[in-house]
Amino acid sequence: MNLFDVYPLFNIELKNGKGCYVYDQNDIKYLDFYGGHAVISIGHAHPHYIQRITAQLDQLSFYSNSVQLAIQQQLADKLGTVSGYIDYNLFLINSGAEAIENALKVASFYNNRKKIIAFNGSFHGRTSAAVAITDNPKIKAPINSDEHVIFVPLNDEAALINAFQENEICAVVVESIQGLNGIYEPTVSFFQLIEKLCKAQNAVFIADEIQSGYGRSGKFFAHQYANVQPDIITMAKGMGNGFPIAGILTHPKFVAKHGMLGTTFGGSPLACAAGLAVLEVIEKENLIENAHQIGEYIIAQCQQIPEIKSIRGKGLMIGLEFDFPIKDLRNKLLFEHRVFVGNSNNANTLRLLPSMTIGKPEVDIFIHALKSCLK
Ligand SMILES: Cc1ncc(COP(=O)(O)O)c(C=O)c1O
Repeated sequence: MNLFDVYPLFNIELKNGKGCYVYDQNDIKYLDFYGGHAVISIGHAHPHYIQRITAQLDQLSFYSNSVQLAIQQQLADKLGTVSGYIDYNLFLINSGAEAIENALKVASFYNNRKKIIAFNGSFHGRTSAAVAITDNPKIKAPINSDEHVIFVPLNDEAALINAFQENEICAVVVESIQGLNGIYEPTVSFFQLIEKLCKAQNAVFIADEIQSGYGRSGKFFAHQYANVQPDIITMAKGMGNGFPIAGILTHPKFVAKHGMLGTTFGGSPLACAAGLAVLEVIEKENLIENAHQIGEYIIAQCQQIPEIKSIRGKGLMIGLEFDFPIKDLRNKLLFEHRVFVGNSNNANTLRLLPSMTIGKPEVDIFIHALKSCLK
């Protein structure tokens, strides 16, 4: 049997990882400035993560959501404290797209509406409701109906106001930092306008923190820079450091009913152990502050490189834009300097999404490699 060939792959086979590095089958070492699409938050093979998951595996790896699983509440308690959203509720699933699907369902159950505002350049996942609010016709099959979605240019306040005036809106979904599009941020005033319009019209404000959340931006959630409080927050990637776990945080105004949402695998004891290990390491090693400081250091170093035309992002979610396509540069970094970085839908923009455990020495290696490639 062959694999369904949907991914363009580098000719590299990875064998293991440790901290900010991964190793291929020939034991060649690569600096990981990409974290496998922003998933590696606390570094590869973190000892506390391994110990937590292994201990849970010894006890109980899985049971369905038909019995009490105390570790789910432990995760909710910890997440409430670390994120600052103590009075919100947590629903656990397995992937980013599922988080979006469930966020949209909660919103639509709540106000009984179905028109969604999303933004140009958005990416929210590939399942039916998630891909419908994603601004990429190429990944929509005919079955993925998006006629209930209104796409508005990011940061166009007049267009947003207009969309609200002409429609009864169920929800506005916004990435707190657009990732795949090439690292673009809603302005503080745009965020605040979304919050204001949603409140006034009883629409639901959904912040997609699947890529930008869990400390990566230098705050637990990137929207916290704008002093807004979304009604629903979606999370995934960094949440399990590679173990599939995702979640939505919902404002207490959303009343849960039995059977309203559900999942077989979501919230398994093993996933919760991974999720708890990540939060414990984030807290113990002060990783949010580290993401903030090292992010500033990367930006300061990049400002010295004249070939970089624009630097976008916050913390360890950074886009570097050049005035040429970065495909060859990315390949050079990988194959000549052994550094993984990401691309984006903007052909000229490199995306940096390293583990939050990186320090200045790793940044110096990256900057040296980047400068050599640009020579
Ligand atoms: C902002 C954002 N939302 C949603 C998703 C979908 O997540 P998943 O691939 O886990 O379904 C992604 C994945 O890249 C993302 O970056």
